Amino acid sequence: MEKLVTRTHSTHLVLRLVIIIDFSLLFFSAFSAEIPLRKSKDRIRKIRQVKLHRNNDRVFIDNGLIEVTIEEPSGHLSGIKYKTMDNVLETKNHNGNKGYWDVVWDNEAYDKLPGQHMKIITQTDEVVEVSFTKTWKSRTDRRRSVPLNIDKRYIIRRGVPGLYMYGIFERESDFPDARMYQIRIAFKLKEDKFNFMAISDTRQSIMPTAEDREGRRCQVLAFKEAVLLTNPTDPRFRGQVDDKYQYSAENKDNHLHGWISDEEAVGFWVINPSSEFRSSGPHKQDLTSHVGPTALSMFTSTHYTGTEMNVLYKKGEPWKKVFGPVFIYLNSAAPDPKHAYRNTLWNDAKTRLSQEIQSWPYNFVASEDFPHSERRGQVYGQLLVRDRYMDKKLMLAKSAFVGLAAPGFAGSWQTEGKGYQFWTKTYNTGRFRIKNVRPGVYNLYAWVYGFIGNYKLEQEITIQPGNKINVGTLIYDPPRNGPTLWEIGIPDRTAAEFFVPEPNPSLVNSILSSNVDGFRQYGLWDRYSEIYRNGDLVYNVGVSNYSKDWFFAHVPRNVGNNANRATTWQIRYNLQEVKEAGNYTLQLALAAASYAEVQVRFNDPNVIRPYFTTRRIGCDNAVPRHGIHGLYRFYSIDVPGNRFQRGENTIFLTQTRSQDSFEAVMYDYIRLEGPAV
Ligand SMILES: *[C@@H]1O[C@H](CO)[C@@H](O)[C@H](O)[C@H]1NC(C)=O
Ligand SMILES: *[C@@H]1O[C@H](CO)[C@@H](O)[C@H](O)[C@H]1NC(C)=O
Repeated sequence: MEKLVTRTHSTHLVLRLVIIIDFSLLFFSAFSAEIPLRKSKDRIRKIRQVKLHRNNDRVFIDNGLIEVTIEEPSGHLSGIKYKTMDNVLETKNHNGNKGYWDVVWDNEAYDKLPGQHMKIITQTDEVVEVSFTKTWKSRTDRRRSVPLNIDKRYIIRRGVPGLYMYGIFERESDFPDARMYQIRIAFKLKEDKFNFMAISDTRQSIMPTAEDREGRRCQVLAFKEAVLLTNPTDPRFRGQVDDKYQYSAENKDNHLHGWISDEEAVGFWVINPSSEFRSSGPHKQDLTSHVGPTALSMFTSTHYTGTEMNVLYKKGEPWKKVFGPVFIYLNSAAPDPKHAYRNTLWNDAKTRLSQEIQSWPYNFVASEDFPHSERRGQVYGQLLVRDRYMDKKLMLAKSAFVGLAAPGFAGSWQTEGKGYQFWTKTYNTGRFRIKNVRPGVYNLYAWVYGFIGNYKLEQEITIQPGNKINVGTLIYDPPRNGPTLWEIGIPDRTAAEFFVPEPNPSLVNSILSSNVDGFRQYGLWDRYSEIYRNGDLVYNVGVSNYSKDWFFAHVPRNVGNNANRATTWQIRYNLQEVKEAGNYTLQLALAAASYAEVQVRFNDPNVIRPYFTTRRIGCDNAVPRHGIHGLYRFYSIDVPGNRFQRGENTIFLTQTRSQDSFEAVMYDYIRLEGPAV
């Protein structure tokens, strides 16, 4: 697939380049003075200390590299001055709509968390930290604003072209119940400047404008977030699809994204050095940047989980959590007609991300609620896997995710959002070390690539400041009752290894490359009915290949006129012998489910009562949100030998629900095990 960025430039762009070159000559000396910023730190240090001044309703903080304007007392960020740009935020927007926190709570109520008091926390030559607080009062705030005490913080440091933001949110025990579905920070960048978005090494492109998504310039597709650009301001986007959910990322990969202004060769980046304050663990997906130009820092949301994520904050349960700090980083480079600066800025932002990760947890954060490294602990050990049907010996848990999260059942972390989570990956030896853990009580959880199910260490772990806890060698016994007769897929909690079709050629988003992000294309669900025009999917064990013959999502069949019909997939396999008295097991792992039900029948598709049903499950919306997974679900289904016959057998998987195209499941992995030997 051709990327937009590589297309020939329109005259419009050529004209713009002329301006850039001109501009670069004028400012070249200024730019080159700033580029060796990291090399000559000392010199910069001599140049400017951090300064704060206030007028009646604004706070200005300036370190000579950037100047930040914050509204007082709301705490809304209304200005970031950087280099040639007086404000990188959209000046046309009102001051509460440029850089702000917000919460979606109870029945779609929306709160931008305006502060009521401003306080200077730290003011030295090296660092300024300011705070905007609001205390929730039952008498005046009930039903009008989310029951939360708020403390929004900003930090500007000497020599750092950016700002740190964090929030301390607290609920006292007598605050009324509230559901908080979404907590985030949003930035609305200058529309006529920021035109190039970068969210990963591959997902980078110039982007349509907000106007392109409005009125007669586009056609809304199956839901309002997805549009087909029919008459965009820049004709190169004609025929392209845009949907912000195509730019989602998993928490573990969502550390850096943002925008570049081609005209100024300036980058604006949201850097998240840690995911400890995000909900639902390393695989939770969420939004990043999207057309606007908008950049988000998502802390919690029901995206890709649905309301199975625990969003109810109850009366009688006091709660406090620090979200962030996140780092807003600005950089600039010398413009050049071939746009080499785009790479320069992206790579510099990546370097900056690694520096921020190195200095996590930040030691310059003033709040007592954010423990510095000496007040944190560590947990280390080794994880092995015992599955005698795969290997007589214990196996090292390579590429396993190991994490600490609030106590719960095995796997509960994927719907847990109120506490902190700390995750790491094992080395090839199965060893792991989880660093910088906040004091608290946790369970240790894990899952291992290539193995089904969830691990949990039964004993709770209490971290106290400075603790280094060795949990020793842990052994995971994944679900297993007998030898593998056949299997489909890889136990990896996604449907990525299955067949992901090419999109309909008239519904492509070129920012996505087929080998990396092909599953994020719009409308893939409809391809099922085209590809399996003459009958539903039949998988022949030993002949079929799951990467070509197993569609990535079990969706309903589109029968036209906005109607859908349930579909039944078949797995056909041969059994040389059947132990009538033995117990077989069907291990069924799902990668996603939305308002769906999977019924399982053995050999006779017409029996009314299925042998097994998942019942109606899920609301993760992974199919229309272009995720390759939602929440992980696992079923171990016991099947007596008398259900099978010698020779040909068939398992019928019926996804019974078909109100719309999105009532669907994605399978992760399916395995039939014979009786124990
Ligand atoms: C299955 O198909 C994929 C994709 O075409 C191919 O790379 C792989 O080698 C095939 N596997 C087998 C066992 O034939
Ligand atoms: C099969 O499972 C049933 C029910 O769990 C049990 O009663 C029976 O003993 C098992 N049979 C064998 C051969 O293990």
